[in-house]
Amino acid sequence: MTEPTLHALREPLTLPCGQVLGSRLAKAAMSEKLAGPDGAPNEHHVRLYERWGRGGAALLLTGNVMVDRRALEGPGNVVVEDERDLELLRGWARAARAGGALTWMQISHPGRQTPRRVSARPVAPSSVALRGTFGLFAPPRALSESEIAEIVARFATTAAVAQRAGFDGVQIHGAHGYLVSQFLSPLTNQRTDGYGGSIENRQRFLLEVVRAVRAAVTKGFALAVKLNSADFQRGGFSEAESMSVVEALSDEGLDLLEISGGTYEAAAMFDGADARTRSREAYFLEYAERVRQHARMPLMVTGGFRTASGMAEAVASGATDVIGLARPLALEPDLAARLLSAEAERARSGLRGFGAKKLDALVDAAWHEQQLARMGRGLAPDPQLNRLSSVLASFRHSYAPRLRGR
Ligand SMILES: Cc1cc2nc3c(=O)[nH]c(=O)nc-3n(C[C@H](O)[C@H](O)[C@H](O)COP(=O)(O)O)c2cc1C
Repeated sequence: MTEPTLHALREPLTLPCGQVLGSRLAKAAMSEKLAGPDGAPNEHHVRLYERWGRGGAALLLTGNVMVDRRALEGPGNVVVEDERDLELLRGWARAARAGGALTWMQISHPGRQTPRRVSARPVAPSSVALRGTFGLFAPPRALSESEIAEIVARFATTAAVAQRAGFDGVQIHGAHGYLVSQFLSPLTNQRTDGYGGSIENRQRFLLEVVRAVRAAVTKGFALAVKLNSADFQRGGFSEAESMSVVEALSDEGLDLLEISGGTYEAAAMFDGADARTRSREAYFLEYAERVRQHARMPLMVTGGFRTASGMAEAVASGATDVIGLARPLALEPDLAARLLSAEAERARSGLRGFGAKKLDALVDAAWHEQQLARMGRGLAPDPQLNRLSSVLASFRHSYAPRLRGR
């Protein structure tokens, strides 16, 4: 690829908070699942993030960190409810930032997407159970208004602790069917109070979280949101509704809006929504082009980017400001540096799917998760890693019922 095109990826970007991304390549969030039952980061996180920190991405988003230890996306999540692990969190942030990358903590509550193994009675906007997920998730109960206020406050506390620990910012996880996303979708939010009904009401929880976090941190600390372009389910959160959310977020002075899509029921984040989006290298780029007209904050698009030319064109065309990379950096943690120096033109291909969407999403997540586990142990990623054993290892870790007495 020619140098002028690559130039688009090397151009620094100044965010509204004043932080400067040294290039346009960011590591998107990947749940590490490396913590012990205490939910504290440990030497595995340090090793993994030291490696990514040296890998050339200008921005590292951590995997989702939970705001409530009763509601995990899976065993092994980091949990930040207070300052009890401040020193360990400082060690994690220091390791990630040592190579010069900005590091933001992704903060989340999974709502009904809390595995049964973690909670037999998860909470959600309404008591609508997940479908087609093999009974791994128990039906949720609806949150009361006071419980909603308590969760909003938890996001703010987690963000304040992240700042004290030395992270440069936080990203609120509003995508992929987790709690914020459950509030946004009319399928999962059937409330009749001020949090349900119109899109103005359904986006209220997200806006309350954004405002509470903003009030809990100081100027100069970055605040971002990851949002679905759509859930890709009939009757679910639609593209038109997402535009309304983007408009509302534009008034909140966000530093970055990351675009993704899909939920556990329709896993579009891993391969796009349909044949048309799948035929493009980046699944949500067309959407980003449309969202530009509503978004007054910098944009990041994540999902499917694999070639330097595809990434550079997406930035040069103005469709997005930042490129998010997830799976490619689980296999090649230094890929960003090699793309920027023109040493590599494309990510090495990851996994071949079986052609069955749900199964492929499961295998994809499990296989890449095992690559993170390898790096946490100080090993290199293994492109030959067996798919079946990855799934078994991940399943045992995340979903298998707890053994009595453990
Ligand atoms: C193992 C694994 C864990 C993930 N964990 C998260 C997460 O914690 N938060 C999040 O927003 N996205 C998560 N994702 C989704 C990625 O951030 C990204 O949206 C998706 O993989 C598509 O980007 P890619 O094509 O560059 O991989 C995860 C993806 C993988 C493979």
